[in-house]
Amino acid sequence: MGLVNGVPTLRFAWVLLALYVGLVSAVERSTYIVHMDKSLMPKAFTGPNHWYTSTVDSIKSTNPTTSNGHHSTTNLLYTYDNALHGFSALLSKEELKTVKKSLGFLSAYSDRQVTVDTTHTFQFLSLSPAIGLWPASDYGKDVIVGVLDSGVWPESKSFDDEGMTKIPSKWKGTCEEGQEFNSSLCNLKLIGARYFNKGVKAAKPNVSISMNSARDSDGHGTHTSSTAAGNYVKSTSYFGYASGKARGVAPKARLAIYKVIWEEGRYASDVLAGMDQAVADGVDVISISSGFDQVKLFEDPIAIASFGAMEKGVVVSTSAGNSGPFMGRLHNGIPWVLTVAAGSVDRWFAGRLRLGNGLTITGWSMFPTSALVENLPLIYNKTLSPCNSSELLSKAPNGIIICDNTIPFDYQITEISSSNTFSAAIFITDDPKPFQFTYFPYPGAIIGTKDGLDVIKYAKNRGDSATASISFQETDLGTPRAPVVSTYTSRGPSPSYPGVLKPDVMAPGTLVLASWIPGSPTSIIGSNIFLYSEFNMVSGTSMACPHVSGIAALLKGAHPEWSPAAIRSAIMTTANPYDNTLNQILDSGFGFDIATPLSMGAGQIDPNRALDPGLVYDATPQDYVNLICSMNFTTNQMLTITRSNGYDCSNPSSDLNYPSFIALYSNKTGGLVQKFERTVTNVGGGAAKYKSKVTAPEGSVVTVSPETMVFEETNEKQRYSLTISYVSDKNRTVTFGSIIWVEDNGKHTVRSPIVVSPMIKAW
Ligand SMILES: *[C@@H]1O[C@H](CO)[C@@H](O)[C@H](O)[C@H]1NC(C)=O
Ligand SMILES: *[C@@H]1O[C@H](CO)[C@@H](O)[C@H](O)[C@H]1NC(C)=O
Ligand SMILES: *[C@@H]1O[C@H](CO)[C@@H](O)[C@H](O)[C@H]1NC(C)=O
Ligand SMILES: *[C@@H]1O[C@H](CO)[C@@H](O)[C@H](O)[C@H]1NC(C)=O
Ligand SMILES: *[C@@H]1O[C@H](CO)[C@@H](O)[C@H](O)[C@H]1NC(C)=O
Ligand SMILES: *[C@@H]1O[C@H](CO)[C@@H](O)[C@H](O)[C@H]1NC(C)=O
Ligand SMILES: *[C@@H]1O[C@H](CO)[C@@H](O)[C@H](O)[C@H]1NC(C)=O
Repeated sequence: MGLVNGVPTLRFAWVLLALYVGLVSAVERSTYIVHMDKSLMPKAFTGPNHWYTSTVDSIKSTNPTTSNGHHSTTNLLYTYDNALHGFSALLSKEELKTVKKSLGFLSAYSDRQVTVDTTHTFQFLSLSPAIGLWPASDYGKDVIVGVLDSGVWPESKSFDDEGMTKIPSKWKGTCEEGQEFNSSLCNLKLIGARYFNKGVKAAKPNVSISMNSARDSDGHGTHTSSTAAGNYVKSTSYFGYASGKARGVAPKARLAIYKVIWEEGRYASDVLAGMDQAVADGVDVISISSGFDQVKLFEDPIAIASFGAMEKGVVVSTSAGNSGPFMGRLHNGIPWVLTVAAGSVDRWFAGRLRLGNGLTITGWSMFPTSALVENLPLIYNKTLSPCNSSELLSKAPNGIIICDNTIPFDYQITEISSSNTFSAAIFITDDPKPFQFTYFPYPGAIIGTKDGLDVIKYAKNRGDSATASISFQETDLGTPRAPVVSTYTSRGPSPSYPGVLKPDVMAPGTLVLASWIPGSPTSIIGSNIFLYSEFNMVSGTSMACPHVSGIAALLKGAHPEWSPAAIRSAIMTTANPYDNTLNQILDSGFGFDIATPLSMGAGQIDPNRALDPGLVYDATPQDYVNLICSMNFTTNQMLTITRSNGYDCSNPSSDLNYPSFIALYSNKTGGLVQKFERTVTNVGGGAAKYKSKVTAPEGSVVTVSPETMVFEETNEKQRYSLTISYVSDKNRTVTFGSIIWVEDNGKHTVRSPIVVSPMIKAW
């Protein structure tokens, strides 16, 4: 389902929403987002709000179109003045033409829908109270994380403010009242909550907003915000699985919630309003687990607003999307944000199978209750074993039915749970998808085809006397191999700018346990028994993104002087391309082949190492402008993003100082040479000497100059160049390697992935 970066198995509402195709009324006004050059505002206006209001109002009077049911005196929805300059307004096509002629106009586009895409994860990431990033940052104490999502369930234990100190004085936000939400629901943890739905209401004039406040009626926002910065919750579990103490990645950071995702719709104008306000309120990190597909950078609201956020030092962390495993479908592949891919956790939810002959097999189960499945007949019957007919299954004798690997698991378990058998099942499959979701409405266990042969053999040999037992609700930790790249995570190259390698890094995204809302079921038995729990286990890049947002908050706490680019660099160059068996991370989307950086970026995040990266690849707003200047945009398209004439476009450069390298070949080009220039800053503390260690992508030659860098002092910068000579490959394979700068004393290693990839046109 690529629509929600969280892929909640029970929440189909998102999918249905995506099918909505705007009801169009007779006189057509629809929402446009209009970008303006604020430097051209005439002095007569008291401020941008005054200017934009009068621009829209004057147009209205010259175009007396009949009302379409909007009773407001102005058609202005929002004024944007922090992360971007401009407004959104309901305009007819004629009115839009007039707007385009007005003073200061830069660009305009239609409002569009955004694609919305942890008890154990922090241990898996080795965060520890004793050493490393948690103590160094005091758990993110004075850092504010703004989460743009579906709101928050403030009563959830993750948002208790026990142990929290005074709110940092830089905070300018507020706790907005609304339906079932009063300002006393905010506290020292949940310091702000606001909601934005003028875009939804403009698109659907008669819509009734079912929860008109920052309160979450979906669960997604509660889950992502508690993942980033939830407080400690003593004992949690998901129906007996993954039990333990829960907490967010930055347990002492503050949360500010911006509800921009609505059951009734999800619009760019609302997302922009939320980001603009978050920057004005003084957040340090923006976490946004949604993105816009198939848009150019200058029409991508997240790209536009995050540029303004970046200029103000705000780190923007985003999700890559859930359109995998197809190549080139990633969203949020924006050079000035963090783009996060999703992987698995080293945790196995066991359904343990014991055969009558004593053989035990650890299968997988997420059946949400303790069923008694003991010494039941084991049934293998070729007619039944596809398990694709509830009618046939209803006639099966009671016992444990073996379901073969001819039909997908979801289909089989749905059929068997709607049959009238009161038994259990063993599902045989090597498909990795079932391990990414909690859907398990029938007692049973999944085993691989290799084990399946043993089980079938035993059942055949023993016939009617074959028996088996299954036990549920068990969790194994530290299971190899982990992490594995998740099938659904969107792959690069980034369609919005393929010249910067995306995604940046991978974080836990599959079956992440975090807070949920009370009214929305979290599991199901059969086809109609819904179960509820305070914590839910959900999968998606939506869940991976807030892990990195939390880490960015911790780094901000530990190194307040670091720029967003320095923070991203620290997270990337310390990321780990190896898994818990010390072998290269595998990709479940490509038959468990070795994962390429187009799937996982630099690798799995390693927060404690990110605290002390040795060197960083920094980038200033002007560096990004130089990149934008090389993109062949018109002046107005450029100004839509940069908002300022103050930037210099005399040094266009497609070679951004980025901590990774990608060389792209087209079908036509033969041999190619691409040279990259990089500047690194010594943040390791004092003098240091580094030597380069290159692993060239297969078929390429990589040279580095100089091969040694010597730093006399902290904050000193050094430059090097890296050249990739490669030949295009008719087979269109992706090859990859790395450059590692290794400090002489071995203290720091600074790694960047190198990729040679064909250009991929996914859309
Ligand atoms: C706010 O709401 C809470 C919970 O609904 C209630 O207990 C409290 O009295 C309300 N406070 C105010 C000031 O209305
Ligand atoms: C909205 O409601 C008004 C008044 O009830 C009605 O006239 C109009 O047709 C409705 N518009 C839409 C788009 O449903
Ligand atoms: C297999 O199941 C089918 C359908 O229930 C039944 O007709 C058949 O007799 C069974 N075969 C054996 C060997 O039990
Ligand atoms: C079930 O699967 C078998 C084997 O693939 C197929 O022959 C049969 O037609 C399927 N039955 C239904 C009801 O889909
Ligand atoms: C920009 O345009 C120039 C000349 O038309 C072309 O050579 C170059 O490849 C273009 N660059 C991009 C990034 O599209
Ligand atoms: C290159 O060729 C492949 C198949 O040969 C095709 O699928 C792909 O679309 C082509 N790419 C471009 C950028 O034209
Ligand atoms: C391309 O694929 C073919 C068939 O798999 C193989 O024989 C050939 O060596 C490959 N070429 C390259 C350059 O990898």
